Amino acid sequence: MAWKIVCGSLAATLTLLFTPAHASSPGDPLAPAGRWEGATSGSASTPPMGWSSWNAFRTEVDEGKVLGAAQTLVDSGLARLGYQHVNIDDGWWLKRRTGDGRLQIRTNIFHSAATGGPAGTSFKPFTDKLHAMGLKAGIYTDIGRNACSQAYDLHSPNLPQGTTAEREVGLEGHVTQDINLYFKEWGFDYIKIDACGLADFLPGSDLVKKQDYRAAPPLIERGSINRTDVKAVRARYEDVAAALKEARPNNDYVLSICAWGMANVRTWGKDVGNLWRTSADITPSWTSMLHNFDSAAKRALYAGPGHWNDPDILHIGHGAFDVANPVEVRSHFSLWAMINAPLLISYDLRNGPASFLEVLGNADVVGLNQDKAGHQGVVAYDSDDAQIIVKTLGTGERKAVALFNRGAAPAPVTLLASHLKLSGSAPVLLRDLWSKESTTFTGEKAFTLAPHETLVFEATGKRQLENGVYLSEIPGSINVAVDGARQPQLDPTVHR
Ligand code: GLA
Repeated sequence: MAWKIVCGSLAATLTLLFTPAHASSPGDPLAPAGRWEGATSGSASTPPMGWSSWNAFRTEVDEGKVLGAAQTLVDSGLARLGYQHVNIDDGWWLKRRTGDGRLQIRTNIFHSAATGGPAGTSFKPFTDKLHAMGLKAGIYTDIGRNACSQAYDLHSPNLPQGTTAEREVGLEGHVTQDINLYFKEWGFDYIKIDACGLADFLPGSDLVKKQDYRAAPPLIERGSINRTDVKAVRARYEDVAAALKEARPNNDYVLSICAWGMANVRTWGKDVGNLWRTSADITPSWTSMLHNFDSAAKRALYAGPGHWNDPDILHIGHGAFDVANPVEVRSHFSLWAMINAPLLISYDLRNGPASFLEVLGNADVVGLNQDKAGHQGVVAYDSDDAQIIVKTLGTGERKAVALFNRGAAPAPVTLLASHLKLSGSAPVLLRDLWSKESTTFTGEKAFTLAPHETLVFEATGKRQLENGVYLSEIPGSINVAVDGARQPQLDPTVHR
């Protein structure tokens, strides 16, 4: 078992793991702290799994569509595999009621919310249904006054309605009220909190004038980290985290921060929430999938049990990942699994083909994503066309390895035992998690990957270090300290 130590004077950058062999003297800033320094609130010991309405329906969500997806999760066995969160995204709200500020639900699309009485509307009947199915319920809001659909889906029939104030459905000025409503009254278990309210309702803009919104000087300036107020953005999310802790003292909630990799969220997301988006919205194209993958793939040190990089919802079911593209579907899923991304399905599950259920239901691939040790896969080999990603499973006796062809031509790639941190002189057993076939090699093995193909194996062999561990083998046990990355960064990686 490894020990944890805090690198105090070493610019307080890392809480590191060292083997017991590491000796320390009194007053040694590298002495083992013996405690975990990271935030432990919320309930996401493994990456959240489930379904989200957004990529399937955008704002044209309704109760039948959501409950239909929930029913398919249960009937197909996906729920038993761990797909338990059923998350409503943007589009559910009607308005913020004048007088008491209570949010009202759009009952023409969520019929069971028309409960009447002094509350007007309630999601309790809806969350009760999901809970009775053994599932969990997720809701969506914005950290500012207005939501993303109010800037980007202006054609939508499901935008908030009414006066300027009634259409301010986001959390700003209502954090405790709304969080209590969602979690104590309505019984939600998961919340995704977007950030358009801090970025898109600019003073003097056409949007604000034409839609008669209250202008908000931007705390996030898209594309400019220097003109983004990182501290203020973080503080907004911290207020929500505090309200959540009060509303759910048992820690039974998930907080998903949706600031699209901006405001340096990669460095502080783990201290505030359970997952944080690392990039702009995924679109159903190969290059978008690559970009979003890249935005999280090299941030393994920031993720671990309870806190995860979020390259966005899966886009399986659409465009480059539709039923005509089975290779791309498997790749997208395999990559998200390898980097401990949330596995949130987002197509119309009522009408999807069985082949998707087979992919999403691959218990071996789901299992590596849900491995309790929580080590995100690490890129062990990188080139323009092929990548090798290696993920430690459990206590390190087993590894998962993905061989990924990013390009549109066949790609040769050689897997070395050393990529796996396994001995080059002992046999390595590979079990293909898609075909279920096994093979062994010693030293290295050459593969040719089809265009866009990802092979995923479980690998076992003799460990390279018999009495130690490489840091790249245990990223989920390392806590990059709260002030570890001092230089705010813009969205760092762009697909070439
Ligand atoms: C933003 C988010 C998306 C989705 C939409 C809803 O674009 O990044 O995931 O929630 O808003 O409007």
